[in-house]
Amino acid sequence: MQAFWLGHQRGVVQSTFRKWRLQNRPPVSTVPTVVVASRSIVTPTQCLESQTSSSLPSRQRSISSPFDHQPTTAPTTLLFSPAAKKQHSVSHFHTHSCQLAQSRKGDLIGREEVIYVRRAMATLAAQSHVDLVLNVDNINPNVKAMEYAVRGPLVIRAGEIEKELAMGVKKPFTEVIKANIGDAQAMGQKPITFIRQVLSLVAYPDLLNSKEFPEDVKSRARAILESSRGSAGCYSDSAGLELVRNHVAQYIERRDGFPADPNNIVLCAGASEGIRSTLKMLSTVSGPRTGIMIPIPQYPLYSASIVEYNMEQAGYYLNEDNDWGLDVSELERAVNEARKRCNVRGIVVINPGNPTGQVLTRDNIVEVIKFAHREKLFIFADEVYQDNVYAHNRKFHSFKKVTKEMGDPYDKLELASFLSCSKGYMGECGLRGGYAEIVNMDPAVKALYLKSISAKLCPTVLGQAVMDCVVNPPQPGEPSYELFSKEKAAVLQSLSERASMIAKSFNSIPGIKCNTVQGAMYAFPEVKIPEKAIAKAKSLGQAPDVFYAFQLLEQTGMCCVPGSGFGQRPGTYHFRTTILPQPEKLQIMLDKFRSFQESFMKEYQ
Ligand SMILES: Cc1ncc(COP(=O)(O)O)c(C=O)c1O
Repeated sequence: MQAFWLGHQRGVVQSTFRKWRLQNRPPVSTVPTVVVASRSIVTPTQCLESQTSSSLPSRQRSISSPFDHQPTTAPTTLLFSPAAKKQHSVSHFHTHSCQLAQSRKGDLIGREEVIYVRRAMATLAAQSHVDLVLNVDNINPNVKAMEYAVRGPLVIRAGEIEKELAMGVKKPFTEVIKANIGDAQAMGQKPITFIRQVLSLVAYPDLLNSKEFPEDVKSRARAILESSRGSAGCYSDSAGLELVRNHVAQYIERRDGFPADPNNIVLCAGASEGIRSTLKMLSTVSGPRTGIMIPIPQYPLYSASIVEYNMEQAGYYLNEDNDWGLDVSELERAVNEARKRCNVRGIVVINPGNPTGQVLTRDNIVEVIKFAHREKLFIFADEVYQDNVYAHNRKFHSFKKVTKEMGDPYDKLELASFLSCSKGYMGECGLRGGYAEIVNMDPAVKALYLKSISAKLCPTVLGQAVMDCVVNPPQPGEPSYELFSKEKAAVLQSLSERASMIAKSFNSIPGIKCNTVQGAMYAFPEVKIPEKAIAKAKSLGQAPDVFYAFQLLEQTGMCCVPGSGFGQRPGTYHFRTTILPQPEKLQIMLDKFRSFQESFMKEYQ
């Protein structure tokens, strides 16, 4: 029996398999595993029964053998020994994105999607070497179940296409445009000078003697260094440096006009870490599972973390026909429906919205706060895009400010609000800075919360230094003020122009409808997918929007995330694109989109 295994596997599977091959090099005929090139699930039974791939549709055939590195174009024997059949069930098969097969010389000979047998690889390694403690059947099932669309199979495929292009493969495009993730600097945005100058001095204090740096940069860096025992290499408190927490509290006070307590501030490695550590507090181990209300569509950090922490997602739909606004009647429907299966204890509101780009009105926020009070819910106010408001008729209102303005009893609600240095005008995603402001938490619970984050020791001090720059920026009269203000305004102005350009362009393309991008960094247009395309997607085992996004990627090089990764009303299809490509590239992207959509409609209408 012969095994053909196509393509790259990520992480453990790949290294396990490679190690196993090196250590064992068995006669090819004894290899009890199978790899089938396919876009759809093929069961082991199918493999056994069919015996040869010629009985499968041609798109499911394997095309090369990495064992002998000989291209194989003839129908390939499918491989599953009776013993192996017993070991593997359908659940061990996972569709995987397209793979590259290479001949010995490194020439590209083809590409197919593969199904790979994770369990088979682990089992083989175990048999030959040592019994592994972990296999896909005995790891934490919540880890297996969680999905994070922003970095899913489509994005993996985009990475592969980039490699194919670098190897000289001819495509109808010359570059991949990664509009899948809100990573501004990856799309060409320049860092803010002031932030990078402070960071340089904090990282390398000898530069404090240099005449190259303005005095306000030096004084910020000196203060951070003093607060962190002279070096960014020292651990800080788990909640972060006191100096930075004080500055965060002052920033919130300036923003909201209400006092903020530095003891309620927790610095974190990006907002993600703060969101996850707070969310985790609501999980229970006995009784009904905790339900968390999240918007649909939502940012998949929430759906993924909810699954990981063994909680239930209680989705409420945003109203696409009302600029993705939030209807209280829908909140009520969602909570009543969810209470039949779980104990709903929290509500997430993303404002400005990802992926929808909506900015909530103050009245809408008041309604949500009243709802949260009625239903006794902990509020997660994800406000990481608070600087990214473009619509002239909208303004950012923090949830905390509105609860304070509403007064008793609403200002007693438990609430966590998050900010990040990854978004706004900063775009410092890789430096991992953020904060959570947690108000009205029971002091005993807060003590346990602080204990729980102490196991992570602390967020990076460099990330904290970036947050310090964000909340304590140069003031009028300071040497860096002018350049800082100019750079900040230029980034936000450009984002605002791109936000309106993108919505206008999508709305002029037949079959696509896009709400105004009022804020944040994304558009989430609806696309009408014709029945014929839906049938085609079904035949490939793909959701229609996933099929659409894969076609878009393969034909144009544009990487946008299918709407199903964020959630959408059944029967509707969307995709999310960032507005982050620089204006020139964005124009190219939108032109490509138009011609793709035209040819897609021509083919499938
Ligand atoms: C709504 C929202 N919240 C939180 C995050 C987390 O960002 P980070 O962890 O980089 O701060 C993101 C990132 O895209 C986001 O869009």
